[in-house]
Amino acid sequence: MPAVNLSLTPRPAAVAAPEEGALVDRFGRVHRDLRISLTDRCSLRCTYCMPEQGNEWLARNGILTADEIERVATIAAAAGITTFRLTGGEPLLRTDLIDIVARLARIAGPAGPVEIAMTTNGIRLGEKLPALIDAGLSRLNISIDTLDRERFHALTRRDRLDDVRAGIAAAAASGLRPLKLNAVAMRGVNDDELVDLVEFALAHDAQMRFIEQMPLDAGHTWDRNTMVTREEILAALATRWDIEPVPARGGAPAERFVLDGGPATVGVIASVTAPFCGDCDRLRLTADGQLRNCLFSLDEYDLLPVLRSGQGDDAVEAILRSCVHGKLPGHAIDDPSFLQPARGMNAIGG
Ligand code: 5AD
Ligand code: SF4
Repeated sequence: MPAVNLSLTPRPAAVAAPEEGALVDRFGRVHRDLRISLTDRCSLRCTYCMPEQGNEWLARNGILTADEIERVATIAAAAGITTFRLTGGEPLLRTDLIDIVARLARIAGPAGPVEIAMTTNGIRLGEKLPALIDAGLSRLNISIDTLDRERFHALTRRDRLDDVRAGIAAAAASGLRPLKLNAVAMRGVNDDELVDLVEFALAHDAQMRFIEQMPLDAGHTWDRNTMVTREEILAALATRWDIEPVPARGGAPAERFVLDGGPATVGVIASVTAPFCGDCDRLRLTADGQLRNCLFSLDEYDLLPVLRSGQGDDAVEAILRSCVHGKLPGHAIDDPSFLQPARGMNAIGG
């Protein structure tokens, strides 16, 4: 993909956000996926996401309640959102998680019932999984960057690989499919484990997905030169399997590749070297009620005052629509003019 300096890309003339219909932005992208961060807290401290200490946590009274989340989700579903993905921080730390899933799973939009997915680090997943499934959870993504205990400890600053493995085993034993495992590929950390991670995923009837590291760490330590690229990931996998791309990716961030003719596949999320912004159908809601139209956006649309001042649903919908309307064509991570957002990934939601 050619490098484009998006700061030089002309913006379309300012026209008002449409007041009804699907959530279409100025570039024709229809938004169907809302990622809802339930907390900025986490049971791990992954180096690419959070500093070891000195996190400034969101104030508890500023965190959206289950009622407020349900209200925003209902309005979003009426406007065409069909998937809610629960993220964090770590969503399993939210004590009312089961209640939130149950409330969201009951919502239907014009296209029918919504889907509820969750991205988690898997710790203590096993004990909550039956209730989550009962409540209506339909899909899971679990993060696991390494299979080596020492490495896991160094990377996440917590000695909890066994807990993560137990969570993945529970997910594999459940009926939730497709089950996806995510790893951020990192040089000198896990780049010699990519084949092993795929084998591990296959043994759990799951799809392994490798993510290019993005500049979202609260410590601002990202370096383009040490990032493991899509090309390198594919080269590592090609040492073990014959790899063919699966056509028709749609809005999905992962490019999929068939291993040895299938049915096994692996996913690569090349947010930096092959951005998929042109097909992006995602919006984000932070735990403290900020709508974001991109992981990397510098602007947020604050729902909290509207939700807490007794205004009607149309006021919430208007903010949702202006957030969609304000979305830029892309993030330009690979461009020298790129500015990292102030919040870390744990406070935005993965
Ligand atoms: N770059 C890429 N992926 C990241 N994640 C967290 N921080 C980053 C980053 N800087 C991923 C986690 C998890 C999901 C929530 O987001 O590995 O899979
Ligand atoms: Fe927690 Fe996920 Fe951040 Fe790791 S990447 S610290 S698991 S929120």
